[in-house]
Parts: sequence; C-alpha cells; structure tokens
Amino acid sequence: MTEHGFEHPDVIICPGGPLLLRGDHVVEDADGVAHETRRPVSAVCRCGKSADQPWCDGTHKVLPARDRP
Ligand code: FES
Repeated sequence: MTEHGFEHPDVIICPGGPLLLRGDHVVEDADGVAHETRRPVSAVCRCGKSADQPWCDGTHKVLPARDRP
C-alpha cells in the first residue's frame, strides 16, 4: 500500500526511462494512431528514440544522461 492508499499504481514514471502502464490501455501516438495493449505491464517510450514507437525498446539505456527523459 502506498502513502496514497493504492496497492498498485496503474502508471509508473521511470526516471530516465519509460512510463510503465499496468493492465489494458490504449495509447495514442503523435500521429493520432491508437495502440492497444493487453499485456500485464507495458512500457511507453519517453525519450523519443525507440524504433518501436510508442513502446520502449530499451534505447534510452544507451543515451547520454542529458538525452534521457
Ligand atoms: S524510454 Fe525507452 S526507448 Fe525511449
């Protein structure tokens, strides 16, 4: 249980990395295309460098610290 009373938050921001979504979600990309996910946890790219937008492909890990979200 978190200090806010939630046992498991639905959205987690990873410092320097992606946004983690727990459960079913629809993510709209910059072009307005909807991407549906039904995975237990999905990672949304925040650095803009993933080759699999809107999903994180781990590219943020090789970016210089100044370019990480
Ligand atoms: S946040 Fe992981 S590739 Fe962009």
